[in-house]
Amino acid sequence: MNKNKNLLYKAKLLKIRIHDKVFKLKESLSGNGALSFRYTNIKDTQDNIFVKFLISPRNDIELYKFNMESKFLEYESMKPVKISPTLLKQGKHKTLPIYYYATEWIKGKTLKSIITDLDTPSLDDILEIIHRCTSSAAYMATFISHRDFHPGNIIFLDEEPNWANQVHTQRDFVDAKVIITDFGNAIMPMAFGYEDRGVGNYDIYQNVNRRIEGSFRSLPPEIFLNPIDTVSYNPGSAEAWAIGILFYKLLMNEDILNIQSISEYFNLICTNEIESIIKDKLNDVHQKLDNNYILIRVIEGLLKIKASQRMSLGVTAGLLWDYRFGNLNDESHEFQKKYINAGRNYPPMRPDEYDCY
Ligand SMILES: Nc1ncnc2c1ncn2[C@@H]1O[C@H](COP(=O)(O)OP(=O)(O)O)[C@@H](O)[C@H]1O
Ligand SMILES: [Mg+2]
Repeated sequence: MNKNKNLLYKAKLLKIRIHDKVFKLKESLSGNGALSFRYTNIKDTQDNIFVKFLISPRNDIELYKFNMESKFLEYESMKPVKISPTLLKQGKHKTLPIYYYATEWIKGKTLKSIITDLDTPSLDDILEIIHRCTSSAAYMATFISHRDFHPGNIIFLDEEPNWANQVHTQRDFVDAKVIITDFGNAIMPMAFGYEDRGVGNYDIYQNVNRRIEGSFRSLPPEIFLNPIDTVSYNPGSAEAWAIGILFYKLLMNEDILNIQSISEYFNLICTNEIESIIKDKLNDVHQKLDNNYILIRVIEGLLKIKASQRMSLGVTAGLLWDYRFGNLNDESHEFQKKYINAGRNYPPMRPDEYDCY
């Protein structure tokens, strides 16, 4: 029994009651130090839930962030398209500093395991993965910046998205059948505009730049500048970068940036060496993308170093739809260029063509 399980045993948290059901700890979800577990209904072994703990937070900020994490799950579950697990319970031990929340169990595969299983993915496989990620991330990014958007935190449901029957417009999101987990590093820039008793917005805001948690390799270059401002101006820009990194990795079977530490990453940005590395690496992908103008614009757009210039997730998801299921690929190069430069709004619509008029 690992240290955390032992603690949960002593705290009598190996069993958790939710309404009239009792769930028992079954397995830990990510290695020995993990604080996330699968619990199973003692009367029905098919009935699982996900439980995440915060044990003895080192400071108020950790507790605020943990509370915020379950708040985000609540916010996301209010949206019509499901992209995060439904929160079932939030709890605290009666006397000990042990906090937890429980969500429904998601049946699917993490993108991490899907990628591991795909030996040499075809371009079609890669585009399906990138399209599913951008569609769900675009939907999440309307309020929330996740900031830890790597394949271990993304679950693909077994159902296939119904792409062809849904037209991806600015207002009509496709359900990409993706569940995003782990909002532990997420922020909601809008929430930093006010302070509420006991929520800790101000403290979290003060701390965002100081602590880099989660997987730094998927974090965008602006993490060292002002991540809050950039996500306010271009929501989803941090996730767009993470998806760009993933796109490159799937195409070329190597990391676009070979960085072993946060300081190395910082150094690349300070010296601006990152510009020439990304530029050279992007030149290498042209052939892999069959020199397709649309796909090249997409990967180059996602990997813009300046967040303000980065292609938005909504435009990316829409372009992938247009490429895969629409007829954009049959249009002239000149048309494609104008269409992309105009943010997928070319030729521009007349006012009466917008349904909000
Ligand atoms: N609701 C869920 N149902 C099933 N698996 C989940 C659920 N939430 C997370 N997971 C899986 O558990 C693992 C750990 O969860 P996560 O929230 O990412 O916590 P951590 O902070 O330990 O990374 C993830 O790899 C994810 O695939
Ligand atoms: Mg995680």
